Amino acid sequence: MTSHEKILVTSALPYANGPLHIGHIAGAYLPADIYVRYQRMMGRDVVHVCGTDEHGVAITIAAEKAKKSPKEFVDFYWAQMNATFAKAGISFDIFSRTTTPEHYPISQEFFLTMHKKDLLVEKAVKQLYCPNDKRFLADRYVEGTCPHCGTPGARGDQCEACGKWIDPLELIDPKCMVCGTRPEIRETKHFFIPLGRFQEQVKAWLDTKKNWRDNVLNFCYGWIKEGLTDRAITRDITWGVPVPLPGYEGKVLYVWFDAPIGYISATQVWAKRLGQPDKWKEYWQNPKTKLVHFIGKDNIVFHAIVWPAMLMAQDGYILPADIPANEFLNLEGRKLSTSRNFAVWLHEYLEKFPPDPLRYTLAANLPEGKDADFSWKDFQTRNNSELADILGNFINRTLTFVKKNYGNRVPAAGTLSERDRRTLEIIKSWPQKLSADYERYEFRRATQDLMDLARHANKYFNDEEPWRTLKMDRKRCDTTIHICLHLCKALAVLMSPTLPFSAARIWKMLNLSGEVEKQNWLTAPAEPLPVNHQLNEPEILFTKIEDETIAPEIARLQEALQRMEQTAQSTVESPQSNPEQSAAAQKPLIPIETFQQLDLRVAEILAVEKVPKADKLLKLSIRVGTEERQLIAGIAQHYQPEELVGKKVVIVANLQPAKIRGIESQGMILAASTEDGKLAIVAPEREIASGAKVK
Ligand code: 2FM
Ligand code: ZN
Repeated sequence: MTSHEKILVTSALPYANGPLHIGHIAGAYLPADIYVRYQRMMGRDVVHVCGTDEHGVAITIAAEKAKKSPKEFVDFYWAQMNATFAKAGISFDIFSRTTTPEHYPISQEFFLTMHKKDLLVEKAVKQLYCPNDKRFLADRYVEGTCPHCGTPGARGDQCEACGKWIDPLELIDPKCMVCGTRPEIRETKHFFIPLGRFQEQVKAWLDTKKNWRDNVLNFCYGWIKEGLTDRAITRDITWGVPVPLPGYEGKVLYVWFDAPIGYISATQVWAKRLGQPDKWKEYWQNPKTKLVHFIGKDNIVFHAIVWPAMLMAQDGYILPADIPANEFLNLEGRKLSTSRNFAVWLHEYLEKFPPDPLRYTLAANLPEGKDADFSWKDFQTRNNSELADILGNFINRTLTFVKKNYGNRVPAAGTLSERDRRTLEIIKSWPQKLSADYERYEFRRATQDLMDLARHANKYFNDEEPWRTLKMDRKRCDTTIHICLHLCKALAVLMSPTLPFSAARIWKMLNLSGEVEKQNWLTAPAEPLPVNHQLNEPEILFTKIEDETIAPEIARLQEALQRMEQTAQSTVESPQSNPEQSAAAQKPLIPIETFQQLDLRVAEILAVEKVPKADKLLKLSIRVGTEERQLIAGIAQHYQPEELVGKKVVIVANLQPAKIRGIESQGMILAASTEDGKLAIVAPEREIASGAKVK
């Protein structure tokens, strides 16, 4: 770090429309938190702001679905996220929201400044309008078939199947999301940011960012190469920051216009709470502030192109100094899906496990530069083989040795051997080593370097064999243990950004005053414990995680996957096609117990009928032993109803019932797809009674 006097760190404002999951944490909040904790220990003037992003159609639609007002809805998620972040140890200086009284005037000021400087363009545009609800259907308020890939259920902004941006006017068979009415096309007025006019300035600014991550720069240059175009920044909805101009009643600023301004309003709220309402300017309007935005890759264009342009258009604001955007975190080798519940929810995790093992696992495996994967098995291994067996083991073996042989007091060091000196050198060099990682936003490497220090510590303990020297050469043993305790202290300080809860526990066991997170990063690790200092009782730092503990978590994700596959089978095949064929390579190994949780049975098909208006679905009445059931299968294009009656098939009998097109499906029939995309039902190879178990 250089001439900067202050550091202002922002973490992407999460939409207040659902709980946090580990993808969020790995994308922005954990690296930001580690960085800020480290900078605080460096004694730097750093402020970390965040808050919920509470406007926009993503909120209003979710609120309508939940039958709540937008305000009630965002209140709920703000409170839930605030509590969850705190429990995970994500240490914001302020967790604000974009519905505070501070947020509206500053957002409107940004707009008005641009308007006055003639940096906004007003245009009449054609948009879909629902005559029944009497409103324009902004963004996700309209649904139809994607004009690019033909997938039904695409929304008026981006198609989830092919990823292309959709002009709502091009949607095939558009429908109002609220009432289902076919919308009309009407004219309306909107403001646009003419990004093209900022293109040169933005590019020149980006050109100075030689140290930025490649993924961020490449992304931006890609956009610039295509040519920046006008982007609408107002919407015809009522929930949001009102457009502050007469004649614009009923229109609000687009959520992506007001959201980044939320970083500023959050800083204003923070300053007010400190009793120094103007203090926010010392950060936002001070060229000596380093502004760092931690975000996920889906937010790059907004933070690295649109937001800088907005800031350039204002007077006296600084621009982002760094945008260390992360790629995506996958889960068990697949893309996370919140709508399908294929995710690890942070609040649920924290009900069952302590925060530090997750922080560590994610930090060791952050999607820096490329996508990364979280799996429960890896989490277990990291916890057991690294946190418990290496770090925890070193702390524990040292402290129990001191308790047993030194009355829990720190022995003095005598003459230093070559190995002692080397170890002390390592302790001395480690803060700088980690600093270099952190200043470059290389958190994975920092996590590895941290564990390497614990590896060195264990090796030192092993090589010194204090259990032997205790009897043969007491002075040597004293020196070894003195240095081991010094290592415990250094580890506590240096692990504090990543493992804050465990670091505080070591600090307590060492009976040191103050808080570990308030220690000086560079000097505290270098100072040994005072001789004769009395320690507290040692405790186990990390508990091992057994297979049985993670089995239900794995099983829950498997169920979510099965449901996803069931829906894929019964609705549209995904455009990438053949998900089953790649699945073999993609799915992680499972223990036999997980397989045994499946209740596979032979079933006899009694009757079959087509599902009205669903050309892929058949409704089957089946018999499983003495029980009769119905299930929906996506096989109508592969089998005629008549050829199925009387057939014996294999079903998953203990799948939670699901509603498909409003009809309950009580199980899933097993089928495989052939290379040309046909489905073949799996059938027992000889005559067998229905209800027989398949294993
Ligand atoms: O992608 C998201 O979750 C957005 N709510 C991020 C906003 S970041 C900032 F600009 F507010
Ligand atoms: Zn409608």
